[in-house]
Amino acid sequence: MPSFSHDPLSPKDAADVVIVGVAARGLAAAARRAGLRALVLDLFGDDDTRELALAAIPLRRIGAFAIDPADLYEQLAIHAGPDIPVVLGTGFEHQPEVVERLAARFRLVGNGPPTLAWTKEPLMLARLLHNLGIPHPQVFADHAPAGMRTLEKRIGGSGGWHVKPASESRGWGWYLQEELQGRTVSALFLGNGHKARLLAFSEQWCEPSEDAPYRYGGAAGPIRLDPSIEASIASALDAVVNAAGIVGLASADLMLTGDGWSLIEINPRPGASLDVFDHEPLPPLLRLHFEACRGELPDLALLTPEAAGMVRGAGVFYAPFSFEMRLDPLPDWVADRPPQGTRIETGEPICTLFAAGRDVREVRDTLARRRDQLWRDLSMASRKAAE
Ligand SMILES: Nc1ncnc2c1ncn2[C@@H]1O[C@H](COP(=O)(O)OP(=O)(O)O)[C@@H](O)[C@H]1O
Ligand SMILES: [Mg+2]
Repeated sequence: MPSFSHDPLSPKDAADVVIVGVAARGLAAAARRAGLRALVLDLFGDDDTRELALAAIPLRRIGAFAIDPADLYEQLAIHAGPDIPVVLGTGFEHQPEVVERLAARFRLVGNGPPTLAWTKEPLMLARLLHNLGIPHPQVFADHAPAGMRTLEKRIGGSGGWHVKPASESRGWGWYLQEELQGRTVSALFLGNGHKARLLAFSEQWCEPSEDAPYRYGGAAGPIRLDPSIEASIASALDAVVNAAGIVGLASADLMLTGDGWSLIEINPRPGASLDVFDHEPLPPLLRLHFEACRGELPDLALLTPEAAGMVRGAGVFYAPFSFEMRLDPLPDWVADRPPQGTRIETGEPICTLFAAGRDVREVRDTLARRRDQLWRDLSMASRKAAE
C-alpha cells in the first residue's frame, strides 16, 4: 500500500476518482490503466485493491455481501468532496434510494435513479423491451401461469446467487421470470444516453452450489456470434440506451435460444467483464466510461478474437471448505487477493482466477486446473499455520 508520509496532499485531495462497490478491485485496476488515481471503498480491502488504489477504505457490510448505506455516507463525507467523480460498481441496483442520495451530494459518473428504474425494475424493463420489439422472457410479480417454468429472482440482485426455479415469488423485492433454454452470453457496451456502442461479447458460466444453481462462475471472451444475431443485438442496444437513457459502460446478459436470442438482464454499470476486456487492443475502458457519460462514443469495431490475439477468462473461486488465508505469495494469475490471516467460510468467494487461451474451452480448462492447484496449496498452508 502506498505511504502518504511524504505527500503534502491527503488521499482525498490527490485522488482523481472515487470508486465504490461490493468488490471494487476490477474498477481499481481500470482506474490504474486509465491513468487515474483512485480512492477505493469496498467490502473486501483485498491486497491487490490496496496496491492499485491511492487509498482503500473498508466499508461495513450488512448481511452476507451488502454495503451498509449509513457507513457509506459517512465514509464518503470524510473521503470525497462534491467535485470528485464517483463511479459505482456492483451493489447498488437493489437500492436506488441510496444512489439517489449519493447523486444529490456527489458527482456520480454513471447512471442515476431514472435509468436504474428502467433497467432494474423487472416489470418496467419488460414493458420497455416489449414496446421496442426486443425479445425477452416474460416476467410476473407473484405467480407463474400454469405450464410455464419460471425462475425466481431478486430485484436488483447480482452474482446469480438469488436465481432459483420457483413458480411463486416470495413477495416484495422478488419476481418471476420465464425460464429459457440456451447459452448465456454477455454484451459489453457503452451508452451516451441516445446511442450504444457494442464493444464485445463474452461467454458466461455458472458455478452452481447446493442452494444456488445459477451462482456466477466466470466469463471469457471475446467470442463471436452469428453476424445477423450480432447486428440485431447491436440495434436493440441502441434502442434500449435511447429509451432508458443509459450512459457509460454497461452490459446486457443474453440467452442464445435455438436460432434466436433473448435479453434477460441489463447491468447499467461497469462489471465483471472489465477483467476480460480492459486490455489491449481496447483503450482504457474507464476512460471510455467517462467520455460516454459526457456524450462521446468511440469509433470502435466489435472486438474479435483475432484482434484481441487471445481469449481471456476470469473465474470466481468459491471456498470448498472454510480455511484461513496463509499462502504467501499467491500465483500471479490470482486477483482479489485476501490479506493474510483472512478467515474464509465454505461457499464464500476466495479470489478471482485469470487465464488466457485460444478459445473459451481452453480458458475454462486452465481455470479449472489452476483452481485445483491453488486449493491444494491454500489448504496445505492453512493446515501448516494451524499446527
Ligand atoms: N430467464 C432465464 N432462463 C434461463 N436461465 C436464466 C434466466 N435468467 C437467468 N438465468 C441464468 O442465471 C444466471 C444469472 O441470471 P441474471 O439475471 O444475469 O442474474 P445476476 O443479475 O445475478 O447476474 C444467468 O447467467 C443464466 O445462466
Ligand atoms: Mg447477470
